[in-house]
Amino acid sequence: TVDVTVRKEVSETTYTEVARDDRLLPQIYDYLDTEKQFSRALFFYEAGLQQIMAKLEILNREFQYGNDRNPIESVKGRVKSEQSIVEKMKKKGLPMTISAMMSNIYDIAGVRVICPFISDVYQVARMLLSQKDISLVTMKDYIKQPKENGYRSLHLIVLVDVFFSEQMQKIPVEIQLRSIAMNCWASTEHQLRYKKDHVLTDDMQKELKCCAELMAEADQIMQELATDLLKED
Ligand code: GTP
Ligand code: MG
Repeated sequence: TVDVTVRKEVSETTYTEVARDDRLLPQIYDYLDTEKQFSRALFFYEAGLQQIMAKLEILNREFQYGNDRNPIESVKGRVKSEQSIVEKMKKKGLPMTISAMMSNIYDIAGVRVICPFISDVYQVARMLLSQKDISLVTMKDYIKQPKENGYRSLHLIVLVDVFFSEQMQKIPVEIQLRSIAMNCWASTEHQLRYKKDHVLTDDMQKELKCCAELMAEADQIMQELATDLLKED
């Protein structure tokens, strides 16, 4: 019952509050040098990532048995590189410490889940969040409310329980869920935006946004077809 109370507290506070609570942070041993502390910290995130990927795999295979199709088209996971962690911390003006990293950077472990239909996106999210070793920290629904540039996705930051030899830790993982069409747009847009020396003019941005809306329209039509054809029980 104590556990339940803690879990309830966790899901009702923001991650920043949670992360300040030392009980929830991996215990980095003081006697390790910074390099070792860092790789130890990354190991915790890798473990959290593996845990989430295993859960997704199980959900997908179970669904396949019941419904003869996969609600998940693909899953990709990654641990943020040391370089991009450092860049992000500089951008946020954080001190270069491991505890600042662990309390402020929530996407060190990241999973991207691509689903055929929008209904799959929400169903997979719901199935994950109903598991009692996962608690929701934040959810941003860029499907219901797309970003100004047209970007669509469902973003979750969760804490997943991982059991180590001596203790259990709650590891933050960012999960991005989107449809195939949303992913098509986001990957392409990312390539255009991140290419060095490329400046997107207002017109180009409008055109990109227009593409995002075409994708959304296709998603909507596909969803209607799915609703008619793929009645699940
Ligand atoms: P970050 O500092 O990038 O983590 O942004 P944030 O803290 O405001 O989080 P948000 O949930 O808005 O976005 C996090 C991640 O979503 C990014 O790192 C990208 O992977 C993805 N993302 C967000 N916006 C866009 C976008 O406009 N285009 C693409 N391609 N990806 C995006
Ligand atoms: Mg991010």
